[in-house]
Amino acid sequence: MQNFVWTREKPLEIAILISGRGSNMEAILQKIQSGALERVKCALVLADRADAKGLEIARSSGIPAEFLDPGPKKTFLTPEAEKNWVERIRRSGAQLICLAGFMRVLKTDFMDAFAGRILNIHPSLLPKFPGLHVQKRALEAGEAEAGCTVHWVDRGVDSGPILGQRKVPIRPDDTEETLSARILKEEHILYSEVLSGISIGEIPIPAIR
Ligand code: GRF
Repeated sequence: MQNFVWTREKPLEIAILISGRGSNMEAILQKIQSGALERVKCALVLADRADAKGLEIARSSGIPAEFLDPGPKKTFLTPEAEKNWVERIRRSGAQLICLAGFMRVLKTDFMDAFAGRILNIHPSLLPKFPGLHVQKRALEAGEAEAGCTVHWVDRGVDSGPILGQRKVPIRPDDTEETLSARILKEEHILYSEVLSGISIGEIPIPAIR
């Protein structure tokens, strides 16, 4: 693993990885712009789809935002692609990586490069409902509440150490859409809360020893 140094005199620089609409990314960028995340700077936004809406949003905020080829596989970056992604993120100077609706599993090259400094947001109260279609699965399971989780990314799927959660009630008339929208509002608060905690040293970064 490459040496990772971040002294708290400098703002924490992040790279945000997206696949689609990028509303979590947008919420983070807005908090940075408003000064609410004064110790955080966004160095780069990367998307695995050229048509990811979030790319335009990031560019209109003046953030370098690029599509990077993920390779021919649908659910993960190929090893060759991972090497390019690692190289691009290193070049950006980002110390922390935020997955925000990034729909691919990260494998060996990426994890070797950035283990212990990758965050993810997931729309369930982990460890309940890892994986996909989690709002629907929470409804089908008859849960009374749902929510979202920010966690460190490890080599499993949605399985790394949990840093924060926000809960919402599940209502009798909820559909997957209404529940997803209620959770998403909380996601937009939670991600910045956790980033703030990291940027002021309240939450330690595992890759710093
Ligand atoms: C969010 O619900 C996030 O938790 C999940 O994918 C969705 C991405 O939404 N991982 P957006 O692209 O941030 O709007």
